[in-house]
Amino acid sequence: MNVSTAIAERFSCRSYKTDAIPGEMIHTILEAGRLAPSACNQQPWRFAVVTSDDARTKIVETAFLKGIPMKWALNAPVFFVLGMVRSTTTHKVAPLLSGIDYPWVDIGIAGEHMALQATELGLGTCWIGWIHKKRLRNIVGWPRNIRPAAILTCGCPAENTDHPRRGRLELNALTSYIK
Ligand SMILES: Cc1cc2nc3c(=O)[nH]c(=O)nc-3n(C[C@H](O)[C@H](O)[C@H](O)COP(=O)(O)O)c2cc1C
Repeated sequence: MNVSTAIAERFSCRSYKTDAIPGEMIHTILEAGRLAPSACNQQPWRFAVVTSDDARTKIVETAFLKGIPMKWALNAPVFFVLGMVRSTTTHKVAPLLSGIDYPWVDIGIAGEHMALQATELGLGTCWIGWIHKKRLRNIVGWPRNIRPAAILTCGCPAENTDHPRRGRLELNALTSYIK
C-alpha cells in the first residue's frame, strides 16, 4: 500500500474484532512512531502497549472522561498509550520565544505515523484524546515526568464496520497561495 492509499483508507475505527494482534505487527507500528520527526530531534514520545483485558477495561472504565460514549474501545485488543516527556530547552524555553508547543506537534506526527502504518497492515485505529491523564498514568505505571497525551486503539476492524467518511473542509477554504 502506498502512502496516498493509506491516508485515504484510514478512518476512526470504533468497531473491532477481539482477536489479538501479532507481536510483529505491534512492533512494526511502534517502529513507525519511533521514526517520526520531532523538534530538535527530541523524540518526546513514550509508548505503553496495553493488551491485557484487565488493564484495557480499567482504562475504559476509569481513565476515559465522561460525556462521550466510548465503550466500543473495550473490543480493541491493543491500546497504544502515547506519552510525552518534556525537555528543558526545546519544550520549555523555546516555546516561550516562539509560542509553539513543540512536543504536542511531535506526538501528533508520531501517532499518525502509527495510525497509517496500522492501516497498511489492514488494522483499524482510533485516536482518543478524551482521557484522564493522571488515572491513565497510574494504570500504565509511568512516572510523573511522562504525561499521557492520547491513546490509539488498534485491532482488526469488525466485519460490519461502517467507514463513515467524515466531512472535510474544501482545500480552497483552508489554503492561501502566496506567489
Ligand atoms: C487528537 C485527537 C483526539 C481524538 N479523540 C477522540 C476521542 O476521544 N474519542 C473518539 O471517539 N474519537 C476521537 N478522535 C477521532 C476524531 O473524532 C476523528 O478523527 C474525526 O472525527 C475524523 O474522522 P476520521 O478519523 O474517521 O477521518 C480524535 C482524533 C484526534 C486526532
